[in-house]
Amino acid sequence: MSEEPFVRDEVRGFTPYSPGLSIEEIKEKYGLARVIKLASNENPLGVSALVARVLSRKAGLVFRYPRSGNPALVSGIARSFGLDPAGVVTGNGSDEIIDLLVRVTAKPGLDNVVAFRPCFSIYVHQTRLCGVSLRQVPLGPDFRFDFEALLAAVDGNTALVFVTNPDNPSGYAVPAEQLAELAGKLPPRAILVVDEAYADFADPAGEYTLLPRLSELRNVVVLRTFSKMYGLAGLRLGFGAMAAPLADYVRRVRLPFSVNLLAEAAGMAAMEDVHFLAATRETVLRGRESVSRELSRLGCRVFPSMANFLMFVPPRPAAEVFEELLRRGIIVRPLTSYALPDLLRVSLGADEENAAFLAAMEEIVGHAR
Ligand SMILES: Cc1ncc(COP(=O)(O)O)c(C=O)c1O
Repeated sequence: MSEEPFVRDEVRGFTPYSPGLSIEEIKEKYGLARVIKLASNENPLGVSALVARVLSRKAGLVFRYPRSGNPALVSGIARSFGLDPAGVVTGNGSDEIIDLLVRVTAKPGLDNVVAFRPCFSIYVHQTRLCGVSLRQVPLGPDFRFDFEALLAAVDGNTALVFVTNPDNPSGYAVPAEQLAELAGKLPPRAILVVDEAYADFADPAGEYTLLPRLSELRNVVVLRTFSKMYGLAGLRLGFGAMAAPLADYVRRVRLPFSVNLLAEAAGMAAMEDVHFLAATRETVLRGRESVSRELSRLGCRVFPSMANFLMFVPPRPAAEVFEELLRRGIIVRPLTSYALPDLLRVSLGADEENAAFLAAMEEIVGHAR
């Protein structure tokens, strides 16, 4: 790549986000008619019928701007999740809230952000892009959270501490109580950001979310996404729940229309479709149990998961298994971008997708038992 004199140093060294492979590229590459994607932890049931109806009804309105700040959606979220609307900030995916939090709270060249290693890569990317130093603390054995070590990395210049609960890519989770304790041990100006992208799939879900306690925790931000349980990954919608004064500042700097009109309408419909949400959760929890059992039977080491995916060590090299699955039209997630080359992550799909994945795994590693 030629030297580009116009860009900042942070940008020159930037590694882009490494997304799951798309169905279209694998169909083309391997000449396949059907490809199953179990790589990005999307909803196994697709899109809710109610959401689809609302989207077609709203299509004729897309020439209008949405209302800035999405007040109707914010009230709907506050009602549905039992939150103070003054503390809810919607974003173009929770990715946008992560980016805004770094930019609103951390001073480039002075402050630091703390997270585990490995962690969701957007924490790393947006922190680096801002010119803020990132301190990563290795996860403990079996991907457990080592909060002592995390606290040891925190100091008076720590702006944000990110914890993903349940964690990605491992699926490991701790009861929310432990995170409330962690928040109580942080220095006065550090904010604990608990990314609950997968908390809808924890069992029992109520034990693993900090949302009901948020009003007592002034230094905590909880992130939620509509990309998983709510089936809206392609529309990009998430939110941050936080103390009202911080939310006010985040809202001020957010681009005014980053949550578009269709995402707003779809988000409100998705929260109403309680049958779809219940069916999604039921499918994921059932799949988690059966896919985990079958992978173990095939000689894989499967990590316990509270999320809508499973991380595992296959009995053959992970890169080979990944490639063999692709040839059979099944996309899972290699974890090389998380520096975990021996592991794979598979999203829990619809029952027939899980069955196709397991049948392929039987062909690929069945003899290795
Ligand atoms: C831990 C974690 N946080 C946030 C996100 C981003 O969610 P969104 O699609 O709302 O930007 C993801 C998506 O995979 C995730 O795994």
